[in-house]
Amino acid sequence: MNADEGSAEDALLCSPTPTFVLDEAGRVRRANMAGEALATASERVMRGRPLDDFLRFGEPAAALGARAEAAPFFAFDRRIELAQGPARDGDVAVAPLSTRPGWRVVAVHARPAPRRPRVRRPVDAAAVLAHEIKNPLSGIRGAAQLIEGAGEGGEMPRLIRQEVDRIAALLDRMEGLTDTRPLDCGPLNIHAVLRDVAALARQGYARDVAIDEAFDPSLPAVLGERDALVQLFTNLLKNAVEAAPRGPVQLRTAYRYGVGLGDGAGGRVALPIEAAVIDDGPGLPSAVAAALFTPFVTTKLNGSGLGLALADKLAADLGGVLEHARNEAAGRTIFRVRLRRAGADR
Ligand SMILES: Nc1ncnc2c1ncn2[C@@H]1O[C@H](COP(=O)(O)OP(=O)(O)O)[C@@H](O)[C@H]1O
Ligand SMILES: [Mg+2]
Repeated sequence: MNADEGSAEDALLCSPTPTFVLDEAGRVRRANMAGEALATASERVMRGRPLDDFLRFGEPAAALGARAEAAPFFAFDRRIELAQGPARDGDVAVAPLSTRPGWRVVAVHARPAPRRPRVRRPVDAAAVLAHEIKNPLSGIRGAAQLIEGAGEGGEMPRLIRQEVDRIAALLDRMEGLTDTRPLDCGPLNIHAVLRDVAALARQGYARDVAIDEAFDPSLPAVLGERDALVQLFTNLLKNAVEAAPRGPVQLRTAYRYGVGLGDGAGGRVALPIEAAVIDDGPGLPSAVAAALFTPFVTTKLNGSGLGLALADKLAADLGGVLEHARNEAAGRTIFRVRLRRAGADR
């Protein structure tokens, strides 16, 4: 390669294939960016340590390397166990490094991680807890009402009632997270749904915020369920307004050809309908970004941390996905929902 074509070093560094250079003892000497991402460790941290400390292929890297004495060796369909994060399946290629005896280059082709597993057990426990708490709560609420009706206790009974209602609403939202009933999806005009969401917002939490509608008028009908969509976009819009209280906040729709998702059975589901909620706020705090869509993660004084978790679950229930993006240059936070279109089987 000449200078105009970039160096081999650059090519290795930026190659999307996770690649590691190991010395004769199987210790990491180099790792490219994709390798760092796969191992969830920087090259600096990995350097000098056995690759096995970070990922394993069912046998030590040194043993794999021994089989690539003179020519590249390929191991297909390996379970790739990661020190950080769930195991993946993929292929591993090992080749001798021609310039240093005993050294190896290891390239890993991990298949995409399976869809993020839903938090199950903690949430199911939460559902049981919610149910158990709601029963005595209604008793407490009733008692407070009686005291209030009798004109006793001053402000207290009203406060008790208010707090009880707040806890009950929180429990309701938590139960939404554990609802596993399938949604009854049909063709809908997403713009009508979004206009309703915006109208609701203007009457309540977004009284003083401009909500811009940037709708693609040629968008076909979405395959969805109205209540789920309203809840999903309300959660996103409320967050946007809270992040950028002076607004404006934007609702944007677009048709995206070719966007889709594996269906887990080798097929693909097209998700061409995009509806995004965009704000000019400061973006996600890093602690939240690291645990996005996890229940009870909140930075707000009175936050529940359930809005995004529920939005993510609803998007999945609708057969779509919720994605977060940040455009640092424009100072915009984007929550994008990708949905199926009606009348298309793929
Ligand atoms: N549009 C946004 N801009 C910046 N931060 C956001 C945005 N949406 C969500 N967040 C962050 O994610 C956290 C979790 O949001 P959410 O699950 O809706 O719970 P809550 O709004 O009750 O805190 C928020 O506390 C906030 O820190
Ligand atoms: Mg919220």
